[in-house]
Amino acid sequence: MASVFEAMQERRSSSKVTDEAPSHDELLELIEAAGQVADHSGMTPWRVLEIRGESRRIVGESLAAAAGLEGRDADKNIRKAYRAPLLLAVIVSPRPSFKVPYWEQEAVASGVAHSLNLLLHERGYGAMWRTGIHTRSDAVRLAHRLEPGEQMLGWIYVGRYPDRPRSSRRSRVDARRHLSSL
Ligand SMILES: Cc1cc2nc3c(=O)[nH]c(=O)nc-3n(C[C@H](O)[C@H](O)[C@H](O)COP(=O)(O)O)c2cc1C
Repeated sequence: MASVFEAMQERRSSSKVTDEAPSHDELLELIEAAGQVADHSGMTPWRVLEIRGESRRIVGESLAAAAGLEGRDADKNIRKAYRAPLLLAVIVSPRPSFKVPYWEQEAVASGVAHSLNLLLHERGYGAMWRTGIHTRSDAVRLAHRLEPGEQMLGWIYVGRYPDRPRSSRRSRVDARRHLSSL
């Protein structure tokens, strides 16, 4: 089994995936593991929507509506939600707190989304975190039934890696440019 270091080095997003997605039970397992991220005061300020089958249309329609698209343009946009058999909408679900401000809670939810990407990769699933300029629009909020204060972080599109060579490893970051001393 690959180490976390190796998994991080080899993970790539997969824009194309097959029709095979993790089952509901497998997803529960992965979400439980992703929930182990660092979490100030353990508030678990996040939730995930499991979107399969025709429910994907709700995602596509809300994005098309937010973009003001109609007719063929809307249809074309809606089809994009069918690029994977499973969409995981990751939502920041902030808890009231004086000690832990909103931005910290969003950081936790973001950590969960990144961890899910890595865990899916480890299980042989292709995943791609997608958003768009209308991710936090009213149409999207309404369609996903967000509670007041909740915020979308986007959708992780999930399926199996297709049977084709994966794109090569991403160019490495120049760690020296990103690490300095105070
Ligand atoms: C918050 C967030 C939103 C993203 N939204 C999109 C998107 O809408 N469309 C897209 O092509 N890539 C998007 N990406 C980038 C891809 O998920 C992916 O990271 C990128 O294509 C690079 O591929 P890699 O993960 O294999 O390095 C997003 C990434 C993050 C973290």
